[in-house]
Amino acid sequence: MKKTKILFVCLGNICRSPSAEAVFKKIIKDKGVEELFEVDSAGTYAYHAGEPADARMRKHAEKRAYQLTSISRPFHPPVDFDKFDMIVAMDKDNLRELRQMARHAEDEKKLCMMTDFSRAFSYDHIPDPYYGGDAGFELVLDLLEDAGEGLYRSLKN
Ligand code: 4NP
Repeated sequence: MKKTKILFVCLGNICRSPSAEAVFKKIIKDKGVEELFEVDSAGTYAYHAGEPADARMRKHAEKRAYQLTSISRPFHPPVDFDKFDMIVAMDKDNLRELRQMARHAEDEKKLCMMTDFSRAFSYDHIPDPYYGGDAGFELVLDLLEDAGEGLYRSLKN
């Protein structure tokens, strides 16, 4: 069966999108449907390429039993637009950058926002936690758990 390929994208690929990747992988593992998906993450900004996820983000994720194992990499338009079925932006800047990189309407159709799938929260983006404190990292995880479940349900229907 053809896998559904999902790429989560933020700015640095060290806080929000590696967390989105880990949260969504846990959701599909718990539901026993891991083999139906391919899940990855990337950043629009290459500055942190090759680095593991931010230590603060990892610490908060580990408290909820998520292991952030991905290594930061930049979004690569020619490969990623062809490979992935859905490219899920964390905030509006990420979405705007991705739109600018789109080669044609077919690429643009793959773009959406993580918060499009929120159920319990009314945020219109996943706020960048990088320059803030503990509460920002916890909020990222709360929003991603909620929207990750919403994303899974939208694909199941
Ligand atoms: P992310 O967070 O986009 O969720 O990975 C950030 C990571 C790095 C920076 C900003 C946000 N930075 O300015 O280096």
